Amino acid sequence: MGEKNITELKKGIYWVGVIDWNIRDFHGYVTSKGTTYNSYLVVGEKIALIDTVKHTFADEMMRRIEEIIDPAKIDYVVANHVEMDHSSSLSKILDIAKEAKLVTTERAKEGLLRYYNSDWDITTVKSGDNLDLGGKTLSFLEAPMLHWPDSMFTYVVEDKVLLPNDGFGQHIATSKRFDDEVPDVMEEATTYYANILMPFSSLVVSKIEEVVKLGIEIDMIGPSHGIIWRSDPGKIIDAYMKWGRGEVKEKVVIVYDTMWKSTEKMAIAILEGISSEGVEVKLLKLRDNHRSDIMKEVIDAKAVIVGSPTLNNGMFPTVSDFLTYMKGLRPKNKIGAAFGSYGWSGGAVQAIESELEASKFELIKPELTFKYLPTSEEMKKCYEFGVEIARKVKN
Ligand code: FEO
Repeated sequence: MGEKNITELKKGIYWVGVIDWNIRDFHGYVTSKGTTYNSYLVVGEKIALIDTVKHTFADEMMRRIEEIIDPAKIDYVVANHVEMDHSSSLSKILDIAKEAKLVTTERAKEGLLRYYNSDWDITTVKSGDNLDLGGKTLSFLEAPMLHWPDSMFTYVVEDKVLLPNDGFGQHIATSKRFDDEVPDVMEEATTYYANILMPFSSLVVSKIEEVVKLGIEIDMIGPSHGIIWRSDPGKIIDAYMKWGRGEVKEKVVIVYDTMWKSTEKMAIAILEGISSEGVEVKLLKLRDNHRSDIMKEVIDAKAVIVGSPTLNNGMFPTVSDFLTYMKGLRPKNKIGAAFGSYGWSGGAVQAIESELEASKFELIKPELTFKYLPTSEEMKKCYEFGVEIARKVKN
């Protein structure tokens, strides 16, 4: 193996992570481009490994570390987060680095001991604590609920490198390591925020404000998934502030499913009404679009219009699945509306409205619901409904 398997971010700070080219389902989030699990080795007079990788890739991480140092010489292993994609190689590394201390938060300690039932030598840290490696200082900043209660950021003071674990990540497998080398990185960062961090948006904003207030300068951000932000870390920080505040634009997303295409006909007529007002609109059929991809479109949309045929007095199952998922992600500042067709008795549209209300959407009423196949008069009403939605979005 040549030295090309590792990447030096700054002198003495190395990426020693792994690339998971084949993962397509990350606990329910569709990862069509795979992902990476990023570990970082910080070499001062003492040596620290920041986070590990999913256990199935432990040997690959070890090979990278061995290109730099003897892993037995690692003095500290920092666990920024309990979740197993970052912690499940801890046993492997701590078996080899027998003298290493495991450094983590109090909350993470509880989780790690539960998951791994081990007798590790654990040192707990809190915000403001420093670890002097000799020539390199690690400073810790707890980041509870970004995105688990145990989450923590590690900052390498001398190099102004922030290692925020899941924060600022993207699920993308690539042989490149830096943002300026990967053209679709913002797209993947958007999907990642929408599916992982959106529920904690107010905490995202307050954490960034705290970092600014503390005067922490950032030259580079090395998240635990995807590429490293080196060209302009401010770009992703600004995007997080925008998403965190729930900023939206004049855009409508129509999310629907259909049985015999009546609801689909309605969706298209509504779309044409919206479009006629010059408002951006996207049409996403649930059986053809994964819920996690749809959330990337929802994040900056002012309105989400949801359509479903009635099946057994309720929503079509894909619609129910999507609304449950979206409710958990707690998008802010959205307008919502419902539409759909039915055969002999309705029910889907009312059920959608009740879910949208539970998600704190501002509802546009009355909803549209038509029997069997919409007539040309009813199609006109769908178009007009689209026009009304677009005008509301423009206000
Ligand atoms: Fe990448 Fe929360 O684990």
